[in-house]
Amino acid sequence: MIAVVGSVNRDQVLHVDHHPVPGETVIALGHETMPGGKGGNQAVAAARLGGDVVFIGRVGDDDAGTALVEEFRAEGVDTTNLTVDADGPTGLAVIILDAGGENSIVVSSGVNGKLSPDDVSRAEAVLMAATVTLLQLEIPIETSTAAAQASEGIVVLNAAPTTDLPVALLDAVDVLVVNSVELEALTGSTDPVAARQIGVAVTIVTLGADGARVIRADSDQTFPTPRVDVVDTTGAGDTFCGALAAGLDEGRTLEESVQRAVIAGALSVRAVGARSGMPTKAQVDAASRPGPT
Ligand code: RIB
Repeated sequence: MIAVVGSVNRDQVLHVDHHPVPGETVIALGHETMPGGKGGNQAVAAARLGGDVVFIGRVGDDDAGTALVEEFRAEGVDTTNLTVDADGPTGLAVIILDAGGENSIVVSSGVNGKLSPDDVSRAEAVLMAATVTLLQLEIPIETSTAAAQASEGIVVLNAAPTTDLPVALLDAVDVLVVNSVELEALTGSTDPVAARQIGVAVTIVTLGADGARVIRADSDQTFPTPRVDVVDTTGAGDTFCGALAAGLDEGRTLEESVQRAVIAGALSVRAVGARSGMPTKAQVDAASRPGPT
C-alpha cells in the first residue's frame, strides 16, 4: 500500500499565446477547471499504475472539495483519511499555459496549509503499514517531517515546491526526487552529482526531455526518456513520483521503478491538465517493451 500525504487543489488552467510580464494584462484564449495538487496528482498517478493508494490531506467544505473527493474515489484512491475542513477553502492553483506547453503556476494553499502533525498522528496505522510513503512540500514542512518520521516503509520525498529542508526531514527520507531548479535551490548547482551534498542515500534528478539521473554516493545512472509531442508538462513530475512509488510498492528494483517512472512522465505530457495524460499500468507496460529492431 502507498500512503500519500499532501496537497490537493482545484486547477484553473488559462490558455494564453504568451505569458504576461509584470504590469501586463493578457486575454486568455480560454480556460478549463481540472483536478490537481502535487499530492493529489501523485496519488492518482500511483493508482493508475495499479497501486493501492491511501491519501492523507484536507479539502474545504465547498464544491471544489466535493468534486476532488469524487475524483479520488473514481480513481480508486482511499479517502478515509481525507478531512473535509469547513474553516477554509479548498486549495486553488492558477496555471498559465502557452501553446508551446510552457506553464507558470501560482498556488493558494487554502486548507492544505492546515494539514497538521495531528492529521498525521490520526493516520499513524496507515503510515506504519505502507510499503511506500510519498511526500511533497505543498503542506506545512512540520507535517511532511512528522509523516516521514512515522513511516516504516520507503519514504520518497518530492522536494517541490522548493523550500529549505530541515535535517529531521532529510534524516527520515530514503529517496529524494528533485528537478534541476529544486536541485539548484538545495545545493547551489544544477549538476546532478551535487545532489550528493544533500545527504540522502538516493537522489533522483528529473531532467524533463532528458530523462532522469539516479545519484548515489558511489554511482550515477542516467535513464533516458522516450520522445513525445509535448502539449502540457503540468504534472509530469507528479506522474514520475506516483509511478516510482507504484513500482517500489510492487517490489520492483529502484532502477526498474525509475525506468517505468520516466516512461510514465513522458506519456503524461500529451494532454492538457495535470492528470489528463497520466498513463495506466497497461500503457506503461506496453511502452516499456522493447520494440522491433
Ligand atoms: O505539479 C503540478 C501541480 O502543481 C498542479 O496540479 C497544481 O495544483 C500545483 O499544485
